[in-house]
Amino acid sequence: MMDIYVTRNIRHEGLDLLKQAQTRFQVWPGAENAGPTKGEILQGVGQARVLLTLLTEAIDRDILTANPRLLGVANYAVGYNNIDVKAATALGIPVTNTPGVLTETTADLTWALLMAVARQVPQSHAYMVGGHFNIWGPNLFLGSDVGPGPCGKQKTLGIVGFGRIGQAVYRRALGFNMRILVFAQRGPEVVADFPGATFASLEQLLRQSDFVTLQCSLSEKTKYLIGQNELAMMKPTAYLINTSRGPVVDEAALVTALQKNRIAGAGLDVYEEEPRMAKGLAELSNVVLLPHIGSATTETRGEMAILAARNALALLRKERAPNTVNPEVYETAAYQKRLQD
Ligand code: GLV
Ligand code: GLV
Repeated sequence: MMDIYVTRNIRHEGLDLLKQAQTRFQVWPGAENAGPTKGEILQGVGQARVLLTLLTEAIDRDILTANPRLLGVANYAVGYNNIDVKAATALGIPVTNTPGVLTETTADLTWALLMAVARQVPQSHAYMVGGHFNIWGPNLFLGSDVGPGPCGKQKTLGIVGFGRIGQAVYRRALGFNMRILVFAQRGPEVVADFPGATFASLEQLLRQSDFVTLQCSLSEKTKYLIGQNELAMMKPTAYLINTSRGPVVDEAALVTALQKNRIAGAGLDVYEEEPRMAKGLAELSNVVLLPHIGSATTETRGEMAILAARNALALLRKERAPNTVNPEVYETAAYQKRLQD
């Protein structure tokens, strides 16, 4: 029996904590650019008291029921749509995430994508290294202003979802003197303490924004929040940015909208069926595509590893873990039963 099974190699800061606590843990031994099969996860969870998982692993009912002695699942991500939390709660299994530490880092990348797509930064780079730069040109890689530009007309940023990351994007937009619209399921009170942010319906936001950025979590309510109809509401000069979760957007509908220039462009860090892209997406010239690197800085990935490890250790000690997403689980008989073992 081991204490903790870690489904992929995370940064040493987290593993160091597990070592210091003298736990018996095992890290899935496969290659850096691959992940465990479901069979391998089942084997791991069968032998461990706590599972430390990444967003690439689907933690479904089969895995959650594989070990009646499982004390919890510590996810190395703020998002936890990869875990069947409803099933976990019913089975008495706490689930934790890594909120807070990646907020600013993800907002930075959101801003990088927005700037990159507005000014065609990757396309220009490819042009340079391809040896195409013969002469400065008045029409070379014309993009869109993000700040007010020479005419002083403010650009409008629409932020969909106003949790920690949405708020961090708002702070960046203030520096660019943008008009800021916010839509969130929780309603208008979300903008109460955010001067310069105006609450709008999703439709108003889509119709008025020059840049629409998605910062909501993925749930049944937000799946396909942006589909064909919503894309049709956007201005033909507007850009869509997604650093949240791929299935918030109907990716095939987005490809069609981009092919027909119904919107100006898109900057994506996440995809509906990662790592695959919708047909036609990679061939478009008005997109900037990144491989889900929103939280990818050395510092943040280290902090995420520490947080995930602390959560895993608390679960192992049968304590309430600091970042439990289903805290009601601690009151259940099913959880209490797991503690007795
Ligand atoms: C990354 O996408 C995360 O949810 O942490
Ligand atoms: C933002 O929405 C977050 O969960 O950090």
